[in-house]
Amino acid sequence: MDTNKRVFGFKIIFLVSVFILLNESSKCSSFGVMDDEQFKTMVEEVDNHLPSSSSSQGVYELNDVEEDEWLMVAKKGNQFVINDQPFYVNGFNTYWLMVFAADQSTRGKVTEVFQKASSVGLSVCRTWAFNDGQWRALQKSPGVYDEDVFKALDFVVSEAKQYKIRLILSLANNWDAYGGKAQYVKWGKASGLNLTSDDDFFSHPTLRSYYKAHVKAVLNRVNTITNITYKDDPTIFAWELMNEPRCTSDPSGDKLQSWITDMAVYVKSMDAKHLVEIGLEGFYGPSAPDRAQFNPNSYATQVGTDFIRNHQVLGVDFASVHIYADSWISQTITDSHIQFTKSWMEAHIEDAEKYLGMPVVFAEFGVSSKDPGYNSSFRDTLINTVYKTLLNSTKRGGSGAGSLLWQLFPDGTDYMDDGYAIVLSKSPSTSNIISLHSTRVAIVNSMCSWKCKWGCKKRNPLEAFLYHDDL
Ligand SMILES: *[C@@H]1O[C@H](CO)[C@@H](O)[C@H](O)[C@H]1NC(C)=O
Ligand SMILES: *[C@@H]1O[C@H](CO)[C@@H](O)[C@H](O)[C@H]1NC(C)=O
Ligand SMILES: *[C@@H]1O[C@H](CO)[C@@H](O)[C@H](O)[C@H]1NC(C)=O
Ligand SMILES: *[C@@H]1O[C@H](CO)[C@@H](O)[C@H](O)[C@H]1NC(C)=O
Repeated sequence: MDTNKRVFGFKIIFLVSVFILLNESSKCSSFGVMDDEQFKTMVEEVDNHLPSSSSSQGVYELNDVEEDEWLMVAKKGNQFVINDQPFYVNGFNTYWLMVFAADQSTRGKVTEVFQKASSVGLSVCRTWAFNDGQWRALQKSPGVYDEDVFKALDFVVSEAKQYKIRLILSLANNWDAYGGKAQYVKWGKASGLNLTSDDDFFSHPTLRSYYKAHVKAVLNRVNTITNITYKDDPTIFAWELMNEPRCTSDPSGDKLQSWITDMAVYVKSMDAKHLVEIGLEGFYGPSAPDRAQFNPNSYATQVGTDFIRNHQVLGVDFASVHIYADSWISQTITDSHIQFTKSWMEAHIEDAEKYLGMPVVFAEFGVSSKDPGYNSSFRDTLINTVYKTLLNSTKRGGSGAGSLLWQLFPDGTDYMDDGYAIVLSKSPSTSNIISLHSTRVAIVNSMCSWKCKWGCKKRNPLEAFLYHDDL
């Protein structure tokens, strides 16, 4: 069994206790702004006082208590909640978990990435629950599944729970990798349908029925390791309809809107317990011309997606946004990437509050080390910008609900790196930034009850501590 997760959990409880004590003893007067150096010292002190986990009953007991409370994530207004406590998210992406789990020689990497993630307090992972018609396919042809690969997905779900990590499972791909909508169209053509575009995926009734059959197969899967049906498993945070849907054949957005309307209700009707999100990148479309100024470029309005309208569909519980200044604005790194990141996030947080009344998760963000002008301190600045912007929302009870790094890799998987991989052991400064943010998020989650805007009586001295931003 892993010990990191327990140590991290214990650390949070310890820190919270220290805060409460300090708060009590100072009779709510501020003890001043604590900077990150002081914070680090404090965390180190906590570490030093931690008994080694193998000899500590306390740590095991804590873990047992948590075991009983492994409940479904829900939504209240613009926050996520678990058992009525807020659940702000610091998470990550690792898309290839199922494929790695399908092969005994690489299965260990799945465990390793969860272990590494949990050691820096990451609590949500987004990954693919699709692989259509390709090498190591889950779905070999419409409705036909490879049982060994499904068992690999069972392993991913079961292993995530071991490390107290919840999963956002994406059900299809817009892009060709792992099959995507193009594979569905190939299947349709092979069965004699007259299809002319990959976007027929969204509109042709037969292809819609293929997609629905896949949804049904995954949601009703009984995990062969845990015996829990996926649709009843609290390890699953949410279903994602599709990774980055775009429908360029219809810039009006109607075609994609119709597909989302059909599918969101379909998923919800089969599984009312889990949250559902679309998987959009977040571009503003024709329904909100005044928001187009926030798009990274003018092409973004032409891809058939419409952030606000799409998310008003019945059955969609929270909004998703991706952030890629380097692929949308310029590959060469500039300061404008940081400014874009902040204004893109703030615009979507505002939409989620004003028009949608739901949480928003920044479900992919990152920067490629292959970009001209890249260095690791730029990446750290980008990550800090995302975290700071979210904390600024959290502080006032806003809709910014969390973020997921693209992407976390364990050691020895460099050959899979597209430039965006973060390997914690090779990036101590990034590791520290992630860890500090996890600690802040975990403290907020454990201290604050629902609707506790950060203006309530718990304000001092935690606020200075959590939101002081000389990062
Ligand atoms: C296939 O569909 C296209 C576009 O909908 C149409 O123009 C064409 O006539 C159809 N071909 C056949 C053989 O039905
Ligand atoms: C799952 O069910 C099987 C068959 O009923 C049983 O042998 C096994 O112990 C169960 N496993 C768990 C983890 O409950
Ligand atoms: C890192 O890159 C940024 C953006 O290109 C640049 O402004 C900064 O000077 C670089 N820092 C170092 C230490 O090279
Ligand atoms: C916090 O968010 C508000 C509302 O979006 C914004 O006006 C303000 O500039 C932000 N503050 C910081 C420090 O980012």
